Amino acid sequence: MELSSLFKQIFNKDVEATYIAPARVNLIGEHIDYNGGKVLPCAISCYIKGLVSKREDNQIVTYSTNYSNMFSSPVENIKYIKDNDWSNYVFGVFEILKQEGYKIPFGLNVLLDSNIPLGSGLSSSAALLDLVLYIANDMYNLNIDLKTIAKLAQKTENEFCGLKCGIMDQAAIALGKKDKAILLDCNKFEYEYKDISLGEYSFVILKTNTPRNLVDSKYNERVEQCQKALSLIRNKLKVNTLCELEVNQLEKAKQLINNELIYKRVRHVVTENDRVNRFMLALENKDINELGNLLNQSHISLKEDYEVTGKYLDTIVESALDSGAVGARMTGAGFGGCAIALIRTEEFSKFKESVESLYFKKTKIHPEVFQVDIVDGPTRIN
Ligand code: GLA
Repeated sequence: MELSSLFKQIFNKDVEATYIAPARVNLIGEHIDYNGGKVLPCAISCYIKGLVSKREDNQIVTYSTNYSNMFSSPVENIKYIKDNDWSNYVFGVFEILKQEGYKIPFGLNVLLDSNIPLGSGLSSSAALLDLVLYIANDMYNLNIDLKTIAKLAQKTENEFCGLKCGIMDQAAIALGKKDKAILLDCNKFEYEYKDISLGEYSFVILKTNTPRNLVDSKYNERVEQCQKALSLIRNKLKVNTLCELEVNQLEKAKQLINNELIYKRVRHVVTENDRVNRFMLALENKDINELGNLLNQSHISLKEDYEVTGKYLDTIVESALDSGAVGARMTGAGFGGCAIALIRTEEFSKFKESVESLYFKKTKIHPEVFQVDIVDGPTRIN
């Protein structure tokens, strides 16, 4: 059924406006956004769509085609309800907007339809948050700029949904630009668009097709370990974030931290931030081998020091390297989800076939290997 007909059937109203928001992939700079580092994500051509009409009452009523269920809440009495899973992201946005002093003068019907693989490390939840903020901004004429949309989306995730995430995903989606990666300084919240065209080479996405378990609790644990590390070194080493540390200060940090596990987390953060700078240089020089090396080093660091990869991400990265990738690494939070690989574009079909077969042999799971376009951020399409 067409989405507009489904909308009519569910809400007994015609669609008044339709919006989309893309997914994102991060090229390098993993688990450092919440440590004041630089990251290099881009918005990609998988989308969540929101069809909307105004209501005469104060209810937010929302239906998802992906889950085939509907939730509603009055604007004046929004609560986090664990069992209402995805709808918390919708209602949370309205709650945070209210707390920030924005006026929500009437309710909305919102039908959501997403082709972003859910829970796969491509930020389906940040896309949903940004989309709902973008919708509210337009429907209520709130005059919120894109950077603030990203901040409010992060605030919703942090304070309403309980994930202590950094700003990367919400910003990558809100600020997405066709054919450009976003070099985002998460400490200053400043960004620059960067060309990442590499002639005969391109980045592809590898989806492990495994459920990501306990992501939230393990993610929050990593954030807390970093906060703990910072509290142990900040005065002595005069830094305000872990990413202000230089690689050559690691030995000093190690002595102050005096805990092997916490130190490993810090070593990942500091070396990863350094890799982002080296990656930018390699991009400028179109140094494909160096880009590949940095991707590989990033994965090893996330596997051994940060311990967020797991069997399936490690296997898919290994399969990619055995299939001719110049480099490969997990992307996003980890614990399952997706990886990226840098390959010679004309070898895509051969590469895909080989990864599918190698990964299946080792895991008995069929992965997905696909190319994406880099696209603009959220927009109203009619
Ligand atoms: C998730 C979070 C981001 C970031 C990445 C890891 O996607 O939402 O803020 O920390 O993990 O780089």
